[in-house]
Amino acid sequence: MNGEGSLASGASGAGGLHAERSDIKVRFNNVSMHYGDVEVVRDVSFDIAEGEFVSLVGPSGCGKTTMMNMLAGFVRPTSGDVLLEGVPVSGPGPDRGVMFQEYGVFPWLTVEKNIRFGLDLAIKRHVSRTERQAITEKYMRLMRLGDFRDAWPKNLSGGMRQRLALARAYAANPHFLLMDEPFGALDAQTRSDMHELLHQILQAERKTALLITHSVEEAIYLSSRVLVISARPSRIVERIDIPFGFPRDKSLLDSGEFIALRSHLREQVMKQYAEQQALR
Ligand SMILES: Nc1ncnc2c1ncn2[C@@H]1O[C@H](COP(=O)(O)OP(=O)(O)OP(=O)(O)O)[C@@H](O)[C@H]1O
Ligand SMILES: [Mg+2]
Repeated sequence: MNGEGSLASGASGAGGLHAERSDIKVRFNNVSMHYGDVEVVRDVSFDIAEGEFVSLVGPSGCGKTTMMNMLAGFVRPTSGDVLLEGVPVSGPGPDRGVMFQEYGVFPWLTVEKNIRFGLDLAIKRHVSRTERQAITEKYMRLMRLGDFRDAWPKNLSGGMRQRLALARAYAANPHFLLMDEPFGALDAQTRSDMHELLHQILQAERKTALLITHSVEEAIYLSSRVLVISARPSRIVERIDIPFGFPRDKSLLDSGEFIALRSHLREQVMKQYAEQQALR
C-alpha cells in the first residue's frame, strides 16, 4: 500500500491544517524547537478538537516527548505557538494530566497518597473528603494496587509504578490527557486491560487526549487520528484519520481493515526509523 491511499483519508502529507473547526482545543501552529545547535522539531502544525484522541508515532529520539513537553508547559517552542483553547501555553496546569515516560510518581509518597495527590490539591477541595477517598480507592482497585497502598514507589516493579502513575492521572480527572508511552513497561495482558480501561474512561468522561507510543497497533486501537512523525527534526509525514467509531472492542484487532491499516502504518513508521538510525 502506497502513500495516501484510501486508508489515509484526510491525510495531507507534511503540510496543511485540517479544516477550521470551532471546537479546537489544542493547536500546534508552525512550532519549531532547537536545543542549542540541535534542531528537534521543525515547523509542526496540527490541531486536536474537543474529544479527539491523537497519537504520535515515530522513531526514538525524533522529538515526540519534546512536543508533549511544550503542550504540558514544561518548555517553550523556539518559534511558533502551542495554543490551548486559543491561549498560548505558558506553564503547567491542573487541566492537563501528564503521564510521563519515566512514570512520574512521587518517591516520597506512598501508593495511596500518590493517587490522592491531585485530588488533595486546593483546586479539587470542592470534592468532599469522602468522595476523594472513594475515587482514590476506585483507581487503586482498578490498577490492582490495593495490597500495596502503604508501599513506597521504590519497592514497586516498573509495571506497578506505571499503573500507579496512570491511577494518579486518572483520579485527578483532568480534561486533557497527555500520555508519553504510558503502557511501555506493562506485560501484554495488563496493557490490553489498560486499553479497555482507557476506552471506558473516555466513553464515560469526555476528554481530549494526546498519546505517544511506539506501538502502531495501540495507536490505531485507541485513537481517532494518528500522526506519523519523521526522523529528527520532527515533522509530520502522514496524518491518518482512523475510520473506526467508538466504542471499540478487541474484536476490531482481528478485522481485515484494522490489519491493513496496521501494515500500512508500520511501513511508514519503519521508513522513519531507518532514517533516524542513519542520523546516529
Ligand atoms: N532538555 C534538553 N536539552 C537538550 N537536548 C534535549 C533535551 N530534551 C531533549 N533533547 C534532545 O532532543 C531530541 C528529541 O528528544 P525527545 O525526548 O523529544 O525524543 P523522543 O521522540 O521522545 O524519543 P523516545 O521515543 O526515545 O522517547 C533528542 O536528540 C534529545 O537528545
Ligand atoms: Mg520520548
